[in-house]
Amino acid sequence: MLDKLDAQAPDALLALIKMHAADPREDKIDLGVGVYRTNEGATPVFRAIKQAERKLLEVQDSKSYLGPEGDSGFVEALMPYIFGKGSPLTNRIEGMQTPGGTGAVRLAVSLAARAGVKRIHLGMPSWPNHAQILEDVGVEIVPFDHANADGTANLDAVLGAIRGAGYADAVLLHGCCHNPTGIDYTAEQWTTIAEAFADSDVLPILDIAYQGLGQGMDEDVAGVRTVLAHVPESLVAYSCDKNFGLYRDRVGAFYMLAREEGQLSAIASNANALARANWSMPPDHGGAAVRLLLEDAGMTATWLEELDEMRARMRRVRDRLAAADSEVPGLNLAALAGQNGLFAMLPLGKAQIAKLREDHGIYMAGSGRINVAGLHAGNTEKFIAALGEVAKG
Ligand code: LMR
Repeated sequence: MLDKLDAQAPDALLALIKMHAADPREDKIDLGVGVYRTNEGATPVFRAIKQAERKLLEVQDSKSYLGPEGDSGFVEALMPYIFGKGSPLTNRIEGMQTPGGTGAVRLAVSLAARAGVKRIHLGMPSWPNHAQILEDVGVEIVPFDHANADGTANLDAVLGAIRGAGYADAVLLHGCCHNPTGIDYTAEQWTTIAEAFADSDVLPILDIAYQGLGQGMDEDVAGVRTVLAHVPESLVAYSCDKNFGLYRDRVGAFYMLAREEGQLSAIASNANALARANWSMPPDHGGAAVRLLLEDAGMTATWLEELDEMRARMRRVRDRLAAADSEVPGLNLAALAGQNGLFAMLPLGKAQIAKLREDHGIYMAGSGRINVAGLHAGNTEKFIAALGEVAKG
């Protein structure tokens, strides 16, 4: 029976990690998978997380099971950051912990499907795992164009998707730091999108994987908050991978906004059942560390400072790349200054991407996506020069 299974290609993004590791060149550059790196090219554990983990070691007195909803204190501690302090929506919101942002997206899509959603509209390009999750859950993917050729967001396309969709449809949007393009909607565009949702029967699914790494903690979720203020129902997936540096600890959260408070327990009971069937309960360690961090004013201040440093560093890299626009014609590097987060898409062909890898040891996704955080003072000039060479042909 098992011999009927066709071989599958390894996940292209995750495969890049191994390809880069196997390259012996000392000056190789990893712009592949989305992890933050310092100016020295490292991905250290956050100082605030180290502190929280030390405290966790001291105070944790049991590792016995929790429920499928995981650490409720963690889920609640994140809420003011996502929905705003004292948000009037919180009595219509129920949340649970998930294994990373992937677990949260999986739960959102599965719950939507359970509620009758048959099609999910997805701005393309998107994070490749979005499509994989949608396909695996068995909902139809209806693509629309996320971006315009000039590096701005395509508002007409998302409005067309929302206005043309109906009761069995959901639209999945990236809350901030769009992966892979870095192209976010402006505040005005979010308002128009929120109004379109309000005039429709479409369920908004909002994926926030990079809060604090674009423009700021509040700024990065302002669009999400605008949508939530306009709609009766929504599902929100949240990742702590990047903004707490907890990648392999798999820390995420999933929130359900209900039409009325009284409907929440039935909705959440379905999410609990799905979690139980998929992973029973999320891994505890990272979520517990985030809870301890957020319960402590000192650790929270340290964490926010660390995020400020990361954001400022990525902004410097973006500005340097944008300033190199005239050195590398044809790639519209200037647009990177107006984009956010870890990623940008360069209009490079397959042969150019292969040449960058083979001749220069520069690794990026096959889509032309680069992880801006992989660049720093020691390798940015080499990258710009190599881009200039391959862009010439
Ligand atoms: C990425 O897009 O590189 C990250 O979100 C990591 C992942 O899981 O794909």
